[in-house]
Amino acid sequence: MLCPVYSPLDLTVERAEGVRIFTSKGEFLDTYGGIGVLPLGHSHPDVVRAIGEKAARYAHLSNYFLDPDACETAEILLSKTGRKGEVYFANSGTEANEAALKAVKKNRKGAIVSFEGNFHGRTLGALSITWGPSMRHPFEPLIPGSVFLPLSGRALLDFAEKNEVAGIFFECIQGNTGIYPIPEDLALAAAKLQKERGVLIAADEIQGGLGRTGKFFSFEHFGLEPDIITLGKGLGGGLPLGAALFCGWSPFAPGDHGSTFAPNPVSLAAGKAVLRHLTPDLLEEVSRKGALLRERLAALPWAGEVRGKGLMIGVGAENPAEIKKKAFDRSVLLNVTGGGIRFLPALTITEPEMEEIVRRLNF
Ligand SMILES: Cc1ncc(COP(=O)(O)O)c(C=O)c1O
Repeated sequence: MLCPVYSPLDLTVERAEGVRIFTSKGEFLDTYGGIGVLPLGHSHPDVVRAIGEKAARYAHLSNYFLDPDACETAEILLSKTGRKGEVYFANSGTEANEAALKAVKKNRKGAIVSFEGNFHGRTLGALSITWGPSMRHPFEPLIPGSVFLPLSGRALLDFAEKNEVAGIFFECIQGNTGIYPIPEDLALAAAKLQKERGVLIAADEIQGGLGRTGKFFSFEHFGLEPDIITLGKGLGGGLPLGAALFCGWSPFAPGDHGSTFAPNPVSLAAGKAVLRHLTPDLLEEVSRKGALLRERLAALPWAGEVRGKGLMIGVGAENPAEIKKKAFDRSVLLNVTGGGIRFLPALTITEPEMEEIVRRLNF
């Protein structure tokens, strides 16, 4: 009946709260927060309240109306960049990247550079800059002019010497390939091209943004000042919401882009409730808890290399599928990606909850 694009767990969920999911087979601990979608965990009371209140007023208005929450959310997001700019809201991460791609293409003709290991989404534009040949090949030809380079500053500078570059897409900490930060020399090379040649930098913060790494944006760890920042996943607190932030410029004129649904007013209300919680104190806690969790995970008998920042953590494992199965038998839900286990828990996870997870994973 359904397209077989997913492999859902054999569980019926009754309800979920924080890092706990209550199912037909008992209570499970969620270590990946709906795949990085729940910064405050499942059913946070402020998010639930915001959703209920907004939905009771209106669930959809269309772009004939301006929902004040759109302006407020945009203002909060831009304030985190420290720059003036404009925000285009979308319904998902891949749509945020589509907006970014259109902006780059409109600004200047030239190559759109992505890197080996990057993931930017599955619509045709975002797929054109997503590494993983097996994901792309069945759907080729994709957008012409999209190129993949190795994660190296030298490779980027060499390419830019011989080719006109319109924009460079980064996932500063690659999520889907197993939590790999970009090398410093790559960030420096991109910043040089941005400064000297006006090449646009687009930072995909869909997985690494919104405090996940202990900073509001993961690019802050790399000293970048992107021209475009894309967001998704946790932005709507569990409801569909994406955004492309254009810092210091205005790419779109009326009619250039749009969506029937975006931004959904209920998603905006949920998003505003999430953003209120992402305070400097919470980000500091994310860094502290992340360091603790990485240390505890590294001590597990099956753990290989442990990578990441804050609560965006990848743990190498020889046989991740087997680890996932054993964890499931101990009522812990793990996400296998990039040849290991990816941890993207709620940013509000407590120390006792982390201890409980690690204790159950000690096999
Ligand atoms: C870094 C990154 N970019 C883009 C996307 C695509 O987002 P969505 O699945 O909401 O379209 C994802 C989703 O995993 C992601 O991790």
